[in-house]
Amino acid sequence: MTPLDYDFLRKGLKQHSGLVLAADKHYLVESRLLPLARNAGFSNLAELVEALRTRRDAALMACVVEAMTTSESSFFRDRTPFEHLRRTIIPALTTSHRRGVIRIWCAAAATGQEPYSVAICLKEMGRQIAGWQIEILATDLSNDVLKRARAGMYSQFEVQRGLPVKLLIKYFTQVGERWQVAPEIRAMVKFRQFNLLADFASLGTFDVVFCRNVLIYFAQETKTDVLDRLAKAISSDGYLVLGAAETAIGLTDAFKMVIDKPGLYMPHTARARVPAQQTPKYPRPRLVAISGGR
Ligand SMILES: C[S@@+](CC[C@H](N)C(=O)[O-])C[C@H]1O[C@@H](n2cnc3c(N)ncnc32)[C@H](O)[C@@H]1O
Repeated sequence: MTPLDYDFLRKGLKQHSGLVLAADKHYLVESRLLPLARNAGFSNLAELVEALRTRRDAALMACVVEAMTTSESSFFRDRTPFEHLRRTIIPALTTSHRRGVIRIWCAAAATGQEPYSVAICLKEMGRQIAGWQIEILATDLSNDVLKRARAGMYSQFEVQRGLPVKLLIKYFTQVGERWQVAPEIRAMVKFRQFNLLADFASLGTFDVVFCRNVLIYFAQETKTDVLDRLAKAISSDGYLVLGAAETAIGLTDAFKMVIDKPGLYMPHTARARVPAQQTPKYPRPRLVAISGGR
């Protein structure tokens, strides 16, 4: 692959998905795109790139983007976000909300472990959420991963990563050598193909957004753009959950951290619960941390 071809692929990838490929990842591109090129009837990557250049084939570009995404995920990944959901987010929303509906968006849901973990976590909360209508929307750029997510079928290795045995037995059925998520949990999650670079308006407003382990692959300006738009898609008393290696700090003023809750943010418009006697006399700095409960 010539440097020009590589550059063309890098630009296309960033433009269509936000994903940034370092200048020295030729081997990664070759190992991921060569099988795709052969399947599509090209004898090498140069021919694939030439077809992309001349035909402006959107479907082929979408396949290239999908092949370059990293869809690594696991049940209850990093655990802390699900502790936030159980101990902070749901108690706060069920206290402050008046609508009786909680809308949750897993914005880069990959093969489904994250939205199913959310659904299981909520199911386990039992009476605490009784009477609340919960909507979980799980989206991803890649149709391939969404197909797997919808099936809700996982290998022994996948269910062994992060899923407590008690929950495996309670919410999964063994099918041959694989495990399928129970219909009652699958029914809680709606899957839809969606690119984070697209306008969020068609999705409505959410009370909780999980946007984990996808911003790390984006350029600074794309991270800022996505975060700014997420802030508008989250209700004023709602929450944003980022991945363990991600932060909104330094990228946007649209979110504030929740004190002592790593990875948990609220839109800046949310009012911090400051006890009356502690109300600060001076304007607060723009990136203030606020308490978890309201
Ligand atoms: C590493 S997985 C993260 C899965 C899950 N959120 C987690 O933390 O375990 C990243 C996912 O982001 C998706 N992705 C990448 N770029 C995207 C974009 N522009 N819009 C939507 N999803 C995207 C990929 O297809 C991939 O499935």
